[in-house]
Amino acid sequence: MNPVTDFRQLAIGVFDSGLGGLSVVKELRKVLPHEDIIYFGDTARLPYGSKSPDTIRKFSKENTRFLLDRGVKIVVVACHSASSVALSDLEREFSLPIIGVLYPAASSAVKKTRNKKIGVIGTHLTIETGTYEKIIKSLDAQVEIIAKPAPLLVPLVEEGWVKNSITLQILKIYLEPLLKEKIDTLLLGCTHYPLLKPAIKKIIKDRVNLVDASLETAEATKKLLLEKNLLNPQKSQGKLKFYFSDLSPQLYLIARRFLGFELKEVIRASLSE
Ligand code: DGL
Repeated sequence: MNPVTDFRQLAIGVFDSGLGGLSVVKELRKVLPHEDIIYFGDTARLPYGSKSPDTIRKFSKENTRFLLDRGVKIVVVACHSASSVALSDLEREFSLPIIGVLYPAASSAVKKTRNKKIGVIGTHLTIETGTYEKIIKSLDAQVEIIAKPAPLLVPLVEEGWVKNSITLQILKIYLEPLLKEKIDTLLLGCTHYPLLKPAIKKIIKDRVNLVDASLETAEATKKLLLEKNLLNPQKSQGKLKFYFSDLSPQLYLIARRFLGFELKEVIRASLSE
């Protein structure tokens, strides 16, 4: 643990199954430029979206512990798959504030919908747990939710195929059943989907509102830090530190797509250390 006594000066901890959570870091950087951020991407054990809830709960606890040991004041669970199964366990087990991506995204979707029909796409795990439905229903019981897994989008984004005609075709296959149900709001329930916004907009036109969970989570994190009086008082730009459990040769290239800038230094992390 860092020898800092003022908790406000500790970093924001963010974890994800891999690189997609960097889309949340990008937005955190915009709304909280003076905050230090420690990121952990579990690249050795991804993907999370096709694993079982028990395994992802175990990984999420280890990831949270890893961040805690590096001195953080809050943990942002940037991964939808992890947020959908592990958030309540993490809140029970750890005493620091923990924020997931589902609640901020769900509340934005509920605010945006007019006809009370919300579409949600995400990994198999995120959709099959039904956690988005539960949260949306708890916010407005009248809302109808049409949720579909869209697992092929993760590898397409990592490959940089965000404008490709094949990607557009796949998106159409995933989105048409939701459009048929006349959704007026589409929640992007996976770290990777914000990169597909231009392609998705081509299909949904301006008939459907888009909810980008990375933006909503960054705003919600700012609000929570404010409420808890945990905003970093420093005036300089916050420092970033990136840990990954595996360093593949493509890591820098993929990270750049999510972050919008080059990762300068990354640290290979071992969870058992
Ligand atoms: N980060 C995951 C999520 O948001 C997507 C990638 C994975 O399946 O690990 O659900």
